[in-house]
Amino acid sequence: MSSLSKARVEVLADAEALAHHVADWLTTTASAKSGSFSLALSGGSTPRRLYQLLASAPYRERFPWARTHFFWGDERFVPPDHPQSNYRMVREALLAHVPVPSGNIHPVPTEGLTPEASAVSYEEALKSFYGSSTLSQEQPLFDVTFLGIGPEGHIASLFPDSAMLEERTRWVGAVIGVKPEPRITLTYPALESSGEVAFLIAGAEKGPILKRLFAGDQDLPAARLHPVTGPARFFLDRAAAGSVQ
Ligand code: 6PG
Repeated sequence: MSSLSKARVEVLADAEALAHHVADWLTTTASAKSGSFSLALSGGSTPRRLYQLLASAPYRERFPWARTHFFWGDERFVPPDHPQSNYRMVREALLAHVPVPSGNIHPVPTEGLTPEASAVSYEEALKSFYGSSTLSQEQPLFDVTFLGIGPEGHIASLFPDSAMLEERTRWVGAVIGVKPEPRITLTYPALESSGEVAFLIAGAEKGPILKRLFAGDQDLPAARLHPVTGPARFFLDRAAAGSVQ
């Protein structure tokens, strides 16, 4: 089953319009679901504006914060107050400004343990939240998973040609030696276990990788992502979309 469908591509004029559109989409999606709403967040720079918007009117007043749980799709193995921390970025842009119960925030542990122990610990936290050690297609782990894409094609911290791309049992792994800092990443099974997988991609520098992806380049990590509920959504700005549509 292809993980790509051009029918799931939405192109917005620019990064600001993209952030507003996705804030509307996420708020509508979360409001339409009853009970807890679990969100796996992407790091990096693209989603920051989305997170800032969600912390502002009218989203701040509309979003179901009390029943939303926040997880991270990947994390840099640095202290939570480190400039490179994805947790810090989300805390500063969003979580410090909205009424999310502290027990609903599930950061990747990055202090006082090894990267491998962090991955094991986070996997245990995910399984505890999920209520089982076995993922069921009928009961996705997340309601929404946000992903970005790196200029060379990585998603979360699943990098091209890395051994972690072959991991289909563990839910979380430690990636050492690809970036200066170790990375903790959800693996395909966890990333695919989502009601919706939504890529947020902006900027002309992402054009070439998107062109390769939609041309069917199976070497790209995003091409090997098969969400259990069907093809991922792509929210793009026009600069990134280029010739995709
Ligand atoms: C990270 C992200 C990573 C990101 C891409 C794109 O920890 O860096 O989770 O997977 O989504 O690198 O990053 P930009 O949005 O900054 O281009």
